[in-house]
Amino acid sequence: MTDQIEALNRQFSLAGQLHFQAGENGQPMVKIDNGLATAAVYLHGAHITAFQPRGSEPVLWMSPLAQFQADKAIRGGVPVIWPWFGPHATDSDKPQHGFARTAEWRVGATEALADGSTQLQLVLNDTSVTRALWPHVFSLSLLVTVGEELNIELTCCNTGEQAFTVGAALHSYFAIGDINQVSVDGLQGCEYIDQLDGDQIKLQDEALRISQEVDRIYLDTEATCVIHDERDDAQLSRQIQIKKTGSRSTVVWNPWAEKAKAMGDFSDDGYQQMLCIETANAGDDVRLLLPGEVHSLSQIISVLGD
Ligand code: BG6
Repeated sequence: MTDQIEALNRQFSLAGQLHFQAGENGQPMVKIDNGLATAAVYLHGAHITAFQPRGSEPVLWMSPLAQFQADKAIRGGVPVIWPWFGPHATDSDKPQHGFARTAEWRVGATEALADGSTQLQLVLNDTSVTRALWPHVFSLSLLVTVGEELNIELTCCNTGEQAFTVGAALHSYFAIGDINQVSVDGLQGCEYIDQLDGDQIKLQDEALRISQEVDRIYLDTEATCVIHDERDDAQLSRQIQIKKTGSRSTVVWNPWAEKAKAMGDFSDDGYQQMLCIETANAGDDVRLLLPGEVHSLSQIISVLGD
């Protein structure tokens, strides 16, 4: 075991529920296993790669071809998108979706909560590397609470002396039985930016069903979404609920066959078993933070059963 992992275990492990170990490619990860659920979180990107409540199938989809490399985001789980969503507004050389998902985060704290759930706080501050990409002074924290539900709270504070604007997303990849038999409730009546059709604004008039590539930013919505997974063989017949705060935009993404094939870290037929519903600050829902101001974006994921 590396010195780093030993040191993390000495300072932050929680007997019987949380420890650190070497994950894929030796990258440090946190394993949580309490009476309510199991979960895994990489320090690279503060990236949750697994959540499984007791008695349920895995809730998050992970690409079997995910790469665990210092300069890459992990494909699947919950990438943390920050401080901009999508391509950088003015400089296409800057990384898509910001730098938080490829940064090495530090452990802030761990705690066993009275209700049996386990809490992990990861933190990220500006460095010369982040300031070269984005010239601002900040502190960012991801608080992950693993219980029957998975609660994820991304909080940023403007610790500098200049105002800044942030975009963000908890870019969650959900595991589903069959994309053709899934519907998503909660977005009916919303307008969305269709990122595959010249950013036209369109209306979602009924529950969302997906039968082709989708890449949409739903606007002005604080609604809870429910994925109804209705596969006939009932193996994954369940509902996944995503409740959110601090967000007025929700992104829905599925690359479908052709784009999946074109991505080196995405299995060819993986698009059939995943759907991204992203709790976001995207589109015009970016947030202005004056010096000293704080913004939290959070989501609670739960499995509602058959
Ligand atoms: C979604 C975007 O949030 O993420 C899509 O709306 C993008 O446009 C997708 O293709 C995946 O992005 P990436 O950078 O992880 O391949």
